[in-house]
Amino acid sequence: MKILVLHGPNLNLLGVREPAIYGSISLDSINDRLQTLGEELGVEVETLQSNHEGALIDALHATDAGAVVLNAGAFTHYSYALRDAIAAVARPVIEVHISNVHARPETWRHTSVIAEVCVGTIAGLGILSYELGLRAAVELALK
Ligand code: DQA
Repeated sequence: MKILVLHGPNLNLLGVREPAIYGSISLDSINDRLQTLGEELGVEVETLQSNHEGALIDALHATDAGAVVLNAGAFTHYSYALRDAIAAVARPVIEVHISNVHARPETWRHTSVIAEVCVGTIAGLGILSYELGLRAAVELALK
């Protein structure tokens, strides 16, 4: 079984981008840890990062993964196109965020337009958000 992990805009800069908020771990290190966890859990983990809304939508349309772990970055807060793509694909999508978006000072981060079409949301736990998201994806994946 395969799980797709999608990383949205600016997440390629993890490790150097606002480390006080997002930590010092790089995206490659996160992906390595998810690969290791995937091996433990007996699933194939495919990862993709894009700064482009359409590329994330195309990846959702094309995937044959049993479930998706999605950190949509700032698209979380305003992309109705991404929201509709999640609704369109009959696969469980788990929304994850490194930071606690609800505790951040920018009030626009408190809204997620994708939450209503995701099976659940994990936020504020750093890389653990991804790891718990992957564990949830394995449990919820279409067999
Ligand atoms: C984020 C939170 C978003 O508000 C922000 O735009 C990001 C990262 C997170 O993982 O905490 O790019 O999704």
